[in-house]
Amino acid sequence: MEKYRLIRELSPKETTVLVYHFSTSIELLNALLTVLLSDDETNLIVMSNLSSMISGWLKGQAAKLEQSKTVMNIDEALKTINQFIENDLEKDIAEVDALTCQAKTACLEYRKLFRADYGMIEGEISDQMLGVPIPAYEKPFPEGAELIDLPSPNKEILKKTNLFDCIIERESRRKFTNESLSLSELSLLCFTTQGLRGKPAAGRWHFRTVPSGGARHPYETYLAVNKVEGLDSGIYRYLPLEHKLLLVKAVDEKELRKKMTHYSEGQEFAGQSAVVFIWSCVPYRMEWRYSTMARRDLLLEAGHICQNLYLCVEGLGLGTCSILAYRQDLDDYLGLDGVDEFVTYISPVGRIEK
Ligand SMILES: Cc1cc2nc3c(=O)[nH]c(=O)nc-3n(C[C@H](O)[C@H](O)[C@H](O)COP(=O)(O)O)c2cc1C
Repeated sequence: MEKYRLIRELSPKETTVLVYHFSTSIELLNALLTVLLSDDETNLIVMSNLSSMISGWLKGQAAKLEQSKTVMNIDEALKTINQFIENDLEKDIAEVDALTCQAKTACLEYRKLFRADYGMIEGEISDQMLGVPIPAYEKPFPEGAELIDLPSPNKEILKKTNLFDCIIERESRRKFTNESLSLSELSLLCFTTQGLRGKPAAGRWHFRTVPSGGARHPYETYLAVNKVEGLDSGIYRYLPLEHKLLLVKAVDEKELRKKMTHYSEGQEFAGQSAVVFIWSCVPYRMEWRYSTMARRDLLLEAGHICQNLYLCVEGLGLGTCSILAYRQDLDDYLGLDGVDEFVTYISPVGRIEK
């Protein structure tokens, strides 16, 4: 049987689910005893390919760990472990094997989505070819909405301007101080990730600080502002064409921090950041031109945008760490329908210890 291991911590303090195929019994013992003797509220699922020979090892290991026992004593721990082994083992292994097999098959299927030769419909005609008018470059906002001015992007606030230094010193940072970002810093981050490169001539296609297939720019940027000078906490949308912000909804800072941690699957640094960049894609902007091929473009472009964020953050002496492990119901929180617009990537930004 193939040996593999997957540990999933749903939340460090409450529930730990372990799914194990152990290569050695020592590993199993360590894991079981650590979980059973900890004082966290723990939900344990164990799967192992080991036989009952385990009990000899178990006793030796248990003796070593005796001093650290807290909630459950060693005898109870041993009894529980033996019950797992006797009652649940075979059923669990069969279940996990079936799920693993299913996942591997799905992975093979999904790989096709990234290939240029997959899913094209012979003779397909895009809306652009049909003469359908070009979709808006920016999601509309209510007429007369009060927009918030951002300072002009100012490169003078960069602490580091050498590109090579920014590239080699960039790293994902997950520890933020409680300090605010300035509006000038936020402005520069918005500009370098989605801002307009020059003013487009009337009726002409426009270009931004990031590349985009067919210059379609299918992304919108939402900002969960926890702490930025001059802004109340809440959800904003960056308007690249105006280089302004639109307030989507005001949210109390404490509440917003909680929500950002929640929607980042419990990754607390999201809630501790000064602002969370949330990128949503609007697929039709790309499908209008590329039809079925748009799907590849949509995901690739998020990477271009976020890389610019990483580099500008590095230049400003701030920190960021992109997050793919977010909850898709963040769409509901932002008021997105999940079909014509949905979140694909997020990245919290904050000030870091020097
Ligand atoms: C697409 C993508 C998704 C990521 N998702 C997460 C995430 O959900 N949580 C996290 O802490 N880091 C996440 N990261 C950051 C990676 O863990 C990080 O880039 C990696 O460990 C390499 O470290 P470095 O960025 O410092 O070079 C993600 C990075 C990428 C590119």
